[in-house]
Amino acid sequence: PLAYVNGEFEDLENAKVDALDRGFIYGDGLYEVVAIYGGKLYQIDEHLERYKNGAEEMLFENYPAPEEIKKISHELLEKSGIKEGIIYLEVTRGTAPRKHSFPEPQKPNLFMFAKEAPRPDAEFKNNGIKTILVPDERWNRCNVKSINLLPNCFYKEKANREGAYEAIQVHRLGVTEGTSTNVFGVKDGVVYTAPTGQRILPGITRDTILKLADRIGIKVVEKFLSPEELYNCDEVFISSTTIKILPVKQIDQVTFPVSDYKTTFVLQEELEKYTLE
Ligand code: PDD
Repeated sequence: PLAYVNGEFEDLENAKVDALDRGFIYGDGLYEVVAIYGGKLYQIDEHLERYKNGAEEMLFENYPAPEEIKKISHELLEKSGIKEGIIYLEVTRGTAPRKHSFPEPQKPNLFMFAKEAPRPDAEFKNNGIKTILVPDERWNRCNVKSINLLPNCFYKEKANREGAYEAIQVHRLGVTEGTSTNVFGVKDGVVYTAPTGQRILPGITRDTILKLADRIGIKVVEKFLSPEELYNCDEVFISSTTIKILPVKQIDQVTFPVSDYKTTFVLQEELEKYTLE
């Protein structure tokens, strides 16, 4: 995989960041994962818009402009020749003496890499994945794609140790999202998903799914489902840039009849078509 660090392209294995980088010391950074399909960057403008929103909300100064990141992304794409994969990008508040408050001036670091990534297993795509419910213990700015992913990693690990693919987080308000995915339930043909705001990442894929649902006349209600409501859904699925849509066949001990799923597969197919458009 090919990397880029503050102006230099190099092999990812050789890429180095400073030990006093605030991303390393404080988790003071933002990231994005952009998909590469058929040798093209997919929905990069949407990802960079979210990055910019996060940078503004976190009071980043002098951060790389979306246009600059876009240009570098295209260079990474060209130099690496990757056709199916991802671009990872991370912007931190820069290298500075260890002090909690922000350095003055701020000089953000930019780290990116492009790597091949296989599409999710057909097995998962067609027959579904297992999930577990876990408490949502994150801070109240989950709309910001921060590199502080300890709760997400912790609960993804718990899921994996229990033979599950994803952990679905449950807040006091209800079901929020997965550790790296958005979550949807379908009941009587209506799609339910958590509203945007401070409790979930406004997923680019989530947004596309809602647009496609609207386009083909599937009703969507944005609300926090209770765990009981989720268990009682006819269909459940998860989404992200890297996995698109995967049906959920089990949540804790409750199983779901993926072979009878309709709405999930209609949306999965629509999303696939849209991606190739
Ligand atoms: N994760 N929710 C969380 C907490 C996420 O980390 C992600 C993405 C999503 C889905 O968002 P999008 O559709 O924009 O990819 C929802 C990326 C893929 C990751 O961390 O690898």
